[in-house]
Amino acid sequence: MGKGKILLTGAAGYIGSHTWVELSQAGYDVVGVDNFYNSERDVIDRIGKILGKPVTFEEADCSDLKAFGKVFEKHPDIVGAVHFAACKAVGESIDKPLLYYRNNIVSLLNLISLMTEKGKKANIVFSSSCTVYGQPDKEHLPIAEDAPLKRSLSPYGKSKQMAEEILSDSVIAFPHLKVCALRYFNPIGAHPSALIGELPRGVPQNLVPFVTQTAAGIRDHLNVFGNDYNTPDGSCIRDYIYVVDLAKAHVKAIDKLLSDGCGNDAQVIDEPTYVEAAKTGRWFVFNLGTGKGLSVLELVNGFMKATGVNLPYEIAPRRQGDIEQVWADPRKAERELGWKADTPIEDVLRSAWEWQKTL
Ligand code: NAD
Ligand code: WQD
Repeated sequence: MGKGKILLTGAAGYIGSHTWVELSQAGYDVVGVDNFYNSERDVIDRIGKILGKPVTFEEADCSDLKAFGKVFEKHPDIVGAVHFAACKAVGESIDKPLLYYRNNIVSLLNLISLMTEKGKKANIVFSSSCTVYGQPDKEHLPIAEDAPLKRSLSPYGKSKQMAEEILSDSVIAFPHLKVCALRYFNPIGAHPSALIGELPRGVPQNLVPFVTQTAAGIRDHLNVFGNDYNTPDGSCIRDYIYVVDLAKAHVKAIDKLLSDGCGNDAQVIDEPTYVEAAKTGRWFVFNLGTGKGLSVLELVNGFMKATGVNLPYEIAPRRQGDIEQVWADPRKAERELGWKADTPIEDVLRSAWEWQKTL
């Protein structure tokens, strides 16, 4: 007898696939949903291979209410959902805003309607992003959940801000709905089996896939975007979090939402943007990061040290729109979810390299 049936949307994607493994290993029955917009079908078999058992998967587009609704008809015993399905490329979102708003917002609206329509208890964990903070003022670093949210510059970032607003309004409107918004910092690395990992299409925009592809000789060098920032070595600082640690946080979030003790008045109301939602005791926001900032140059050197592989790089001009430095204060997640990202960065970078070698 499992711990309950959990719907994972975007289950074949990078973070979804790792979360599927962790939820299943923690005793949940997972129903994966994806339309393979940005993932490959064989990821489903690979997840089965890691778990050593058949998996339950339904191909559907979450922005298609009818098709998505059929998943709920087939699985009326779903008790919670983790909602990853979304488009996620910041640059692309500026060129294709309607795609981003349609896919990211309509999918979420459909999920909330389908989860709440029968008046049953509904638990949703939502993939939010540190992008909602923009460039934090120095006095807010490391950044905690009660730091001000800044208007995002990209449709992608705005879709995450809107999604949080929609969810917090819904918590007020639907008395049986509980929501946990998880603000991820920079997820990197791959599963230790090297069977699943990040699969960027075309030229990677994110740092670590570009690093591993350069190390593999697919790209001739890495451009380090700027060494004249106001940081110790001049390159930008981020909080890189191991994707498996991140996946484990989703298990803790689902555990919290499903536990009877959740939703009492003990929850501290510390998110000024969402005071009304927080007052319900059914709205939670957590930063998921390591609490340590790493510069681009530190990551590059760390990669070479951890793998013994040479990484040709050049200093290039700043990338437009880049944030100078941001890293998380993850203590709320540690306190209230009992979760901490503790995999050493060398191991994380090695896992990314092991995965790259299989591609
Ligand atoms: P990903 O692209 O690897 O995974 C997303 C998955 O959702 C893909 O498999 C895609 O095919 C699927 N999908 C997209 N639209 C869909 C739809 N309408 N119906 C069904 N499936 C659909 O991305 P990821 O890196 O795993 O990100 C997962 C979530 O986490 C996203 O919501 C993303 O915005 C968020 N996030 C990611 C990062 C990051 O750096 N990777 C950081 C913060 C937040
Ligand atoms: C990291 C650092 C670059 C590539 C993005 C999204 C954000 C969130 C996380 C989803 C930066 C530098 C990069 C390269 C480089 N995603 N870099 N050379 O920009 O922190 O955030 O992912 O919610 O919304 O914007 O991640 O991996 O692109 O960059 O020097 O070839 O690496 O300048 O300092 P970023 P990233």
